[in-house]
Amino acid sequence: MKKKENQGGVKLALVSDIPEGKSIIVEGPEGLCIALFKLKGEIFALNNACPHMGGPLGEGCIEQETVTCPWHGWQFNIQSGYCDNMQGNTTRKISIRIEQNLIYLVN
Ligand code: FES
Repeated sequence: MKKKENQGGVKLALVSDIPEGKSIIVEGPEGLCIALFKLKGEIFALNNACPHMGGPLGEGCIEQETVTCPWHGWQFNIQSGYCDNMQGNTTRKISIRIEQNLIYLVN
C-alpha cells in the first residue's frame, strides 16, 4: 500500500480542537486571523475580521450555517462567506485542506 505524502503547508489546528457546531480563531501567516468552524463534522474557514468594521466572526453566535458578527449583527453563511442580511457584502473564504486530523492553510 502506498503511503500518503504530506504536502506541507501551514498547520492551523487539529480538527478535534473544534467542538461540533462551534468555532475557534487561529493565526495564519502575516497576521491573518482565521475563524475555523465545524458544522456536522465538516470544517470551514473564513477571515476572522468582519468586512463591516473588523469584528471577530469566530466569536459570533452560530445557528445552523450562519454566524452572526458579535459587534453589529451582520450575518454570514459559513460555507459561502456571503452576508445574508447586508446583501452584496461578503467575507473572505480561506482555502484549507484536511489531512490526518490536521487543518492546513492552502496558499
Ligand atoms: S463589525 Fe461585524 S457587523 Fe459590524
